[in-house]
Amino acid sequence: MKPLLVMRGAARRGRRPAQAGIALALSFALLWPVSARDARPAHPPGVAIASAHALATEAGLEILREGGNAFDAAIAVSAALSVVEPVSSGLGGGGFFLLHDAKSGRDVFVDAREVAPRSATPARYLDAAGELDRDKAENGATSAGIPGLPAALAHIARKYGRLPLAKSLAPAIRIARDGFPVYPRLVDEYAERKPVMERYAATRAVYLADGDPPELGETLKQPDLARTLERIAAQGFDGFYRGPVARDLLAAVKADGVEWTAEELANYTVKEREPIRFRYRDWNLVTAPPPSSGGIALAEILKILEGWDLESLEPAQRIHYEVEAMRRAYRDRTLYLGDPDSVRIPVRLLTSDDYAAGLRASILPDKATPSDMLPGTLPPRESVNTTHFSIMDADGNLAAVTQTVNLAYGSGMVVGGAGFLLNDEMDDFALKPGTPNAFGVSGYDANAVAPGRRPLSSMSPTFMFGPDRIAVLGTKGGSRIITSTMIGILGFDAGLDSPEVVALPRYHHQYLPDAITEEPGALPDGVVQGLQAMGYRVENYTSPLVLMHAVDWDRRTNAMHAGADPRNPVGEGRVVVSP
Ligand code: DON
Repeated sequence: MKPLLVMRGAARRGRRPAQAGIALALSFALLWPVSARDARPAHPPGVAIASAHALATEAGLEILREGGNAFDAAIAVSAALSVVEPVSSGLGGGGFFLLHDAKSGRDVFVDAREVAPRSATPARYLDAAGELDRDKAENGATSAGIPGLPAALAHIARKYGRLPLAKSLAPAIRIARDGFPVYPRLVDEYAERKPVMERYAATRAVYLADGDPPELGETLKQPDLARTLERIAAQGFDGFYRGPVARDLLAAVKADGVEWTAEELANYTVKEREPIRFRYRDWNLVTAPPPSSGGIALAEILKILEGWDLESLEPAQRIHYEVEAMRRAYRDRTLYLGDPDSVRIPVRLLTSDDYAAGLRASILPDKATPSDMLPGTLPPRESVNTTHFSIMDADGNLAAVTQTVNLAYGSGMVVGGAGFLLNDEMDDFALKPGTPNAFGVSGYDANAVAPGRRPLSSMSPTFMFGPDRIAVLGTKGGSRIITSTMIGILGFDAGLDSPEVVALPRYHHQYLPDAITEEPGALPDGVVQGLQAMGYRVENYTSPLVLMHAVDWDRRTNAMHAGADPRNPVGEGRVVVSP
């Protein structure tokens, strides 16, 4: 990928990846009469969707065409991704749905994060020597929290949708029953998780149905999953959390040595939370509150950065300031953030201008601050799957949704009879204080495991409302989600559109390990040397894959854009901009 930092003018010189939908999007701009350009249309001229898979994007479009709004479409895309991208998210996992209702102007954050079962205690995750038992943290029933995604689908349909759940789930049911072609990411990640996947008879029944692991181009059918989706379509919440699916779920975890009760399944609830809101330059940002760490960290980082005119700085200087802001925000993440229903989080302080000014004053202009010189101890970690999609409908309703089963294929355990993979989100807790997880990050009391708690997340679905433009963005990528979202926000601020923003090169610092990690070649020539001279360690990374999906609407030209991350090899048609 071509080195390209987000800078006004400079960024526009970068290559724009080929994206389905671009031609359509441009035609809107040309059709808009010149005299009306200043009239500032009240609504977008059409709809835009960007997701990780063409079939999911098409499912959303189908529902919008049937009269659904962005929220019905979000249900359709979410459920379709649960079918076609089981490696990343699914009914056995959780997610965050950030919704904007154009009519009332209200934003709501639907927290469908998994919760720790009653039987979860820190001791469960330690081996005989008192060390973190990685197998229990990442694989099988011990690694799973009570799923939240099905509850979100039912909740959103009931409260915000225009269509019945049965209609919005129809495309996902069809794809689960008829199957879809297996693509490279499913094959490659299966190979990574094979030993765990093949532990479980029910997982083998889905993924080794023909005797072999999934192969490119072969059709993956999931009839049990189709039936589970049908039960949710017919009965909403109860179709999953009570009755036959719940019974299958309890039996599956029990067979793997873990006790969940029917009551704790039936008592699962999504939480509607106030999003984190802050201003960055001309933009009003609306983003993820705890139990995501994303919104608070983004507010800290961007408020620190507001103290400089980033555009005017030399690239190495600019990256130095960005990285120092990241370092300080990830330190606070490590120490203070967790489930807001269980721990007191100083949200107002952490997102205040004064706090940011104090942190800014601690940054030397020409020298890296070693992380161990900041007060605090070690940081938290996360892992490697998840998916994000963005939707804008013609009324201006918005949905930014990030959903996950955590690691690739979650816990590896399919629930027999019900056909979905259980998550391994328990690994997002600081299971052993200070011990890094799959991402080299760790945590302390604020994110300790306890029954009923929600593990700390980095998922950061975000809206940007500017004087001229509105953007919806988010990404997968574990602890890199927050810094990648920051780069996306700076990209929109610099005037880029969604296809350009999702293609921006990425760099990251998460406090510990104390190093800048960059996508190979992301930092322009000379910048790495400049950073090294200030005392930084700079390393390459290729994993986890960060896949951003964004849509935006420019009210000056009335053009809409949708951008799917060019790093995703799934194929064409993952974005749509349509009248
Ligand atoms: O909730 C979280 O932050 C993690 N479970 C997300 C994991 C993830 O994005 C990995 N993606 N590559």
